[in-house]
Order: sequence, then C-alpha cells, then structure tokens
Amino acid sequence: MKIFSGTANRSLSQEIAAYLGVDLGKILIKGFADGEIYVQLQESVRGCDVFLVQPTCSPVNENLMELFIMIDACRRASARSITVVIPYFGYARADRKAQGREAITAKLAANLLTEAGSDRVIVCDIHSTQALGYFDIPVDHIYGQPVILDYLASKTISEDLVVVSPDVGGVVRARAFAKKLFDAPLAIVDKRRQGHNMSEVMHLIGDVKGKVAIMVDDMIDTAGTITSAAALLKQEGAEAVYACCTHAVFSPPAIERLSGGIFEEVIVTNSILLPEDKCFPQLTVLSMA
Ligand code: R5P
Repeated sequence: MKIFSGTANRSLSQEIAAYLGVDLGKILIKGFADGEIYVQLQESVRGCDVFLVQPTCSPVNENLMELFIMIDACRRASARSITVVIPYFGYARADRKAQGREAITAKLAANLLTEAGSDRVIVCDIHSTQALGYFDIPVDHIYGQPVILDYLASKTISEDLVVVSPDVGGVVRARAFAKKLFDAPLAIVDKRRQGHNMSEVMHLIGDVKGKVAIMVDDMIDTAGTITSAAALLKQEGAEAVYACCTHAVFSPPAIERLSGGIFEEVIVTNSILLPEDKCFPQLTVLSMA
C-alpha cells in the first residue's frame, strides 16, 4: 500500500499516514507558467495498491485537475489499484437539474474520476447521498459525525439539548446525529433559498426555548444558512447555539458571520485545510484522519 498526497491538504494526508504508521509516498507536483500542472511519482508504484488523498476544495478546478493527473500518473506507472480519498467532494451540490438547461456537475466529476483511472473512491459526508450512485466503481461513504459526537460527549454541554437541521434537506443527517447524541429532540429550520449562496429563513419546526441548540450541517460555505438559522433559534429562545459541520468551506463572508458572536462554538473537521486567517476564537477544528 502507498499513500500519496495532493497539494490541497497535505497535513491531513500526513496525519492519515502517521495513523497508519507509514510514510507518504514521494511525488512531485508543480505548476507550469501557463497554469498547467505537472505530476511525477518519485517512487515505483508497480503492482501497489495506491491511495491518493485530495479534497477537491477551493481552488476546486485546480485541485480536481491535479487529482486527475495524479490518477493518470499512477495508472501509467502500473499501480495495481487506485483508491481516491476525497475528504471534501467539490461540485457535489449540483446533483440534479433543479432548473432546465443546467449541468449535473456531481455526475460529471464522478465520470471524470472513473475515466481518469480510479478503481475505488472514498468520500466523506458527500452533500447528497444520491450522488454516490453516480459512480460505476465502488464508493465508501464515511462521516465526520463520529469525531464531532465524541468531542461533544467529552464536553458535557447541557442535559437540555436540541439538535437542529438548518434546512429541510439536512433532516436525515440531523436525525441520525440526534439519535446518537443521547436521543436528543430534533428541530428543523424551514429555509427558502432565493439564489445561489443566498438563503432566507422562514420558520422553525420544533421547540428550542431554553435549550442548547446543536446545529448540524454537512458544510459551511458562506455561512448564510447556518447564521440566519442561528438568529432564528436565538429569537425563538435558544440559550446557546453550537454549529457542527464536517466541511469548513468558509467562502467570504463566512468568517465575519461566524465570529460575530452568535455561536457559542463552531465545530468543524479538517477535511479542508484552514489557513490561520480563517481561524477565529470560537472555532474548533477536529481531525478526521
Ligand atoms: C445546503 O443544502 C447545504 O447543506 C449547506 O447548508 C449549504 O451549502 C451551506 O451554504 P452557505 O454556508 O453558503 O449558506
């Protein structure tokens, strides 16, 4: 077995390798002046089971292309099998035609990963599980929830908890989380979206008065969804609001929104590497290595 890291989150790859007690494989990845990417494996992979770790986070197109080129290099170097480990799967949100004449990028990305030469894919908290069926190769779907649940259990926040889904689409995820978090009750924020990266909270289903609300989502991008939901929870009498998300995409103005004081704590994993300027006092980053 050999593990190679792309450039998107080398520190997570290193943690995974350390956990397994192996060194990361040697690989040269560099850019040409015109933006093209060059990849060369610097050790033999002939007959090896190769694992490539690369979240396809921002810059999404570059990270995805880098991954395709890594896969191609492994295939041409006679790897026995190529498993692609994608801690955050970019382009997964466009998983259907919500309007006419749109593309389904989740399916396109799945096709391209397979076409490049992947034998197997491991994804974590993919935006919608239906996208798992877009691959015609085996897919393992793993979750950030166990890591976050362990952390919450170690904190003993309060007896009076309520788990909240910030939108109707996340109810299944939030329900599973609530069940594991001492069978806490569930509340749902009914959100109507007005446009891409814009959200509008309509109303709350469930009771949060006097409770500590634990909001659960797969990702925080601009933080519009989770911040407006948190404002509603406070308005409805929640004592404190925690945000728990696997993927810290954190596109502007997420940091301003999240650090504005509405959250007791924002708990995420390191599926996406967070530079220092995206960290703030209320943020806790857990390792999913
Ligand atoms: C939406 O369905 C997702 O689960 C997230 O709630 C959404 O993508 C987060 O985006 P933002 O942080 O920009 O509101």
